[in-house]
Amino acid sequence: MSDSVLIVDFGSQVTQLIARRVREAGVYCEIAPFHKAAAALARTRPRGIILSGGPASVTDSGAPLPPDELYAAGLPMLGICYGQQAMCRQLGGQVEGGGHREFGRAFLAVRETCGLFDGLWRPGERHQVWMSHGDRVTRLPPGFRAVGDSDNAPFAAIADEARRWYAVQFHPEVAHTPDGARLLRNFVLGVAGCAGDWNMAAFRLAEVARIRALVGRGRVICGLSGGVDSSVAALLLHEAIGERLLCVFVDTGLMREGEAAEVIALFRRHYNIALAHRDASALFLQRLAGVSDPEAKRKIIGAAFIEVFEAEAKAHDQADFLAQGTLYPDVIESVSALGGPSVTIKSHHNVGGLPERMNLKLVEPLRELFKDEVRALGRELGLPERLVGRHPFPGPGLAIRMPGTVTAEKLRLLRRADAIYLEEIRKAGLYDAIWQAFAVLLPVRTVGVMGDDRTYDHALALRAVTSTDGMTAESFAFPHDFLTATATRIVNEVPGINRVVYDVTSKPPGTIEWE
Ligand code: XMP
Repeated sequence: MSDSVLIVDFGSQVTQLIARRVREAGVYCEIAPFHKAAAALARTRPRGIILSGGPASVTDSGAPLPPDELYAAGLPMLGICYGQQAMCRQLGGQVEGGGHREFGRAFLAVRETCGLFDGLWRPGERHQVWMSHGDRVTRLPPGFRAVGDSDNAPFAAIADEARRWYAVQFHPEVAHTPDGARLLRNFVLGVAGCAGDWNMAAFRLAEVARIRALVGRGRVICGLSGGVDSSVAALLLHEAIGERLLCVFVDTGLMREGEAAEVIALFRRHYNIALAHRDASALFLQRLAGVSDPEAKRKIIGAAFIEVFEAEAKAHDQADFLAQGTLYPDVIESVSALGGPSVTIKSHHNVGGLPERMNLKLVEPLRELFKDEVRALGRELGLPERLVGRHPFPGPGLAIRMPGTVTAEKLRLLRRADAIYLEEIRKAGLYDAIWQAFAVLLPVRTVGVMGDDRTYDHALALRAVTSTDGMTAESFAFPHDFLTATATRIVNEVPGINRVVYDVTSKPPGTIEWE
């Protein structure tokens, strides 16, 4: 078991970034809401504690505060922004509210050396940091000294070297504090003494052992979609339990060109994993016939998927566990924006409702990982780069990329046009610079001319966006020549499409998909 760090969440918008930075330093960490921090401390036995920022004010009665157990543990501690104010208030210092607001870029004047600054910042230097606070510390608790200040915060960085307790007013976890990642690295490696040996090779070993202990002699069923999460989960499970894993691939007929064949070839032939393949395209098309409302389409597809998956699973040996590719952002229990102990749990179910209906237990091998860590694990497991770096593809597939009804003919047109578009993107070396790119077949016919003939065919929209998490997105700025060359190829090679437009809407106000 690797060393770990406990991050106590007080509701900051950027708590997950602290976890990212700590893991980048090779140290495993978990995030716990402040009101569950004592239990998390006992369970994870960390080598250090980080207190996050948050929207509350410690000057308010009822403000969320770290439980006493955290201080009593005698572990290295780092308080960030609200975390600093909470430490000062509880340890005998003073915090003043209002009137000292400081948002955005600021400069920290380094006054003294300390463990946090080791090898990085020296007295007399000034460094850019990112501030976002309304309250500030006005008197230090006993044992602490100021090691840095800013124009508006006399105690912007403080240290109690004897207890290895540090606290900063600024946010080291955000990119606008250029040395922030190295400060956090100093804390987890230098101050807390973590080994920094947590990587995907270590995770793979530990997780395989954990899966074996959990599953025992049981059997696991895993839905494969061809996406990176379910593929990585399947490979890890296969390594752990071998032939007691059964993968089910439901071909909805709503996939992209060559996708089904690729998944089958890779898992069945290359990895020799038991894979039940059910071509259910006729059933999906039949259920979708005549339906054009986007939500109705999604519901029909979800229900048909569960029906086919369940039948396929029952036809094979009864399973004990259902594997899901749930990721860490889906399971982090975050503190509400008001700072109160009410919590929001986002629970992502790829095949929602199935575990209860089929009386299955859950195994979620990726539930501690962020998306880029899943990709790194995929590489570690030898998954081909083409699959590891693949753009996200929604479960309802091409059905939600053709406003209006879904027909076999429209699917054929869209599949071909989409494949040409992606081929051009790869050829231009742009694939990895884009979060997601796809074509949308429009329920609009327009007039065109080809040779001496008039055409009256479908219009097609191209979409490509950049994003970090799919929550917000910007239209990708292709060179104009790329768009015209791609449009020409599509119109020439796909009879039935005679016009191509490019979608330049960002999210918000648009969404990435059209439905
Ligand atoms: P929107 O269109 O909401 O999409 O901006 C954000 C991201 O989510 C993907 N998406 C889905 N993924 N099942 C999925 O697995 C779905 O039903 C679904 N709908 C949208 C979308 O492709 C984008 O990456």
